[in-house]
Amino acid sequence: MTAPAGIHHLTGGDVSLVLEVAGGDARVLHWGERLPDAPALDPALLVPGRPHSSFDVPVRRSLIAQPARGWRGRPGLRGDRDGRGFSPRLVATDVAGTAHTCTLTFTAADAELDVRVHYELTASGLLLVGGTVANTGDDDYRLQAFDLVLPVPARATEMMDLAGRWSGERRPQRRPVQQGVWTRQARHGRTGHDAALLMAAGTPAFTFRRGEVWAAHLGWSGDHEEFVEQTADGTTALGAGELLDGGEIVLHPGESYDTPTLYAAWSDKGLDGVSTRFHSWLRGRDAHPTAPRPVTLNTWEAVYFRQNLTDLAELADRAADLGIERFVLDDGWFRSRRDDTAGLGDWFVDEHTWPDGLTPLIDHVRGLGMQFGLWVEPEMVDVDSDLARAHPDWISTPRPRADGGDRLAVPWRHQHVLDLVNPDAWAWVYDRIHALLRDNRIDCLKWDDNRDDVELAHDGRPSTHAQTLALYRLLDALRAAHPHVEIESCSSGGGRVDLGILARTDRVWASDTNDALERQHIQRFTSLVVPPELIGAHVGPPRSHTTGRVHDISFRAATALIAHMGVEWDIRRAAPADADALRDAIALHKRHRDLIATGDMVRVDCADPSATVTGVVAPDRRRAVFVYARLTASAFETPEPVRFAGLDREATYTVQVAQPAPRSLRSGLAQPEWLDAETVVGGAVLETIGLPAPLLHPAAAVVVELSAATA
Ligand code: DGJ
Repeated sequence: MTAPAGIHHLTGGDVSLVLEVAGGDARVLHWGERLPDAPALDPALLVPGRPHSSFDVPVRRSLIAQPARGWRGRPGLRGDRDGRGFSPRLVATDVAGTAHTCTLTFTAADAELDVRVHYELTASGLLLVGGTVANTGDDDYRLQAFDLVLPVPARATEMMDLAGRWSGERRPQRRPVQQGVWTRQARHGRTGHDAALLMAAGTPAFTFRRGEVWAAHLGWSGDHEEFVEQTADGTTALGAGELLDGGEIVLHPGESYDTPTLYAAWSDKGLDGVSTRFHSWLRGRDAHPTAPRPVTLNTWEAVYFRQNLTDLAELADRAADLGIERFVLDDGWFRSRRDDTAGLGDWFVDEHTWPDGLTPLIDHVRGLGMQFGLWVEPEMVDVDSDLARAHPDWISTPRPRADGGDRLAVPWRHQHVLDLVNPDAWAWVYDRIHALLRDNRIDCLKWDDNRDDVELAHDGRPSTHAQTLALYRLLDALRAAHPHVEIESCSSGGGRVDLGILARTDRVWASDTNDALERQHIQRFTSLVVPPELIGAHVGPPRSHTTGRVHDISFRAATALIAHMGVEWDIRRAAPADADALRDAIALHKRHRDLIATGDMVRVDCADPSATVTGVVAPDRRRAVFVYARLTASAFETPEPVRFAGLDREATYTVQVAQPAPRSLRSGLAQPEWLDAETVVGGAVLETIGLPAPLLHPAAAVVVELSAATA
């Protein structure tokens, strides 16, 4: 068979991906700025010279990097057949595609593998990459890793990824790109609070609004790894893949493994340009929620486990009065669940707390015109539960019970993981959640997952991969059976935020902290990938339960504005003035939620990190809403002007404060004039010069509406 050869130019929006297939090998020649449709490109001219002390042939990074072609960096595909077949030499056998897609097929005769890599460049310029490896031999192939990798140009000298912890998710970290591999490994059995979310490399000092950036996200909710590799040849690549345990993926003859999807975005407009690509692609999906995101009340920080009909009906009354549209009953409603030590797995409405079932509460909530949501944590089990007593073997344990082993993984919040790879356990959970949805009028589930799943195993073999797929199957099956039910992905806050879970859920709970100051950062960076209308953000009580900080209602509400807004606070005890302010803030959010769900996120580059300016600008740039947040005290008497970016520079805008900071949070003798009176200013002026900053105490915010004057 003659190996295919040629250049394959994929386009999507203003992005190009150029692949070259030659001599049985394939590589990415370019990913970034769009090139002319038929670029005059002779690949022979791109072959580098050969330095001293090197292989006798020029060596370049293949699409799947291979030692068999002289690659000395990280091999793209790692595995073996009991020691043999460890170094596949992949030969391209087929290339097929369109102007926006390309599928390359390879065969490695020496390792008895077939490999396929698929690229899709979407209209929004987001690149989707996926791979498959199939065992064509007649003995087992143990897969260790299959990385999806994209080269980035040498001018990408700086990198950024996100790190974090519980209640402190998605903290950016930056460093120079240097020789070696910078890798972020997440071994949590879930995405992880410290997950990279985005691994980005860009031109020096790239910012939200400036610089060229190449960034990648792996859509996977199990163990995963993202990395930047710079090799001695001077090239740099960005990659990611599933992290597999030893023996986790053994491909029997004829079996294959599919990688998770790698989502990658290039932009010459900084990180905001990257997130615009993610957001527009996500918004174009059939399953993307299109109904206005209902303002939500979650009962957790209002009552915790103290559930009873009287209190919750009263809470619902207050919620409806404030304009809230969805009422979510959190943890504590099911059998023997009085605290977090027992009950997980017993998905029956508790007969003591709810003697007449949930119907009286649901009817009350619906009678008030609100939707009803219910918290569940289906992947988990408490040792102190009827389920564990009946089926102790359904608890995922590193040692199979048949061998006499009974060592459980280290408990976390007293709980363990239900082995969903076991079909009986899977079916039991499916039946219970299905029955709850069938027997109660439930509009949404808050799907929680409150532990790191280390040592996940089925029959004594590592099973994070299979457990993740079983979870996906569970969600898919429940969604198919109950298509009207929305699902929120929660995992001790923001421990499961990725595009794998978002393919089957409608909202992510960004963090367990409702502290507005922390949330300013968490939401800003979560929204690099996730559009704001899918990010749950709740107005918590005046004193944050996670940090002890006290924030004014205006700051808390402004922080939840550009998101899927909610409330998580015993509003029965809210001071009347706070309740009024919350009612106004909810009305303000409703006025702008269509814009929030369709517009471009703008994070203005502020020289002074003590303030943020975050907004959403309509695609036609006629309308925008911005939040100016003073986080900490400014180093200056008059802080840096407020600039509003992303506007139409030719247009004139009416600028109006929609939510001022209260007097108690204003500082100085006089505020800039525009804060008190509607003002008309040119787009270019707003973007380049800006308006004088409000003088505010720390933890204060001002919400600003802009609308273009009619031409
Ligand atoms: C962790 C979640 O993140 C919280 O919002 C709450 O649902 C608790 N679990 C309930 O146990």
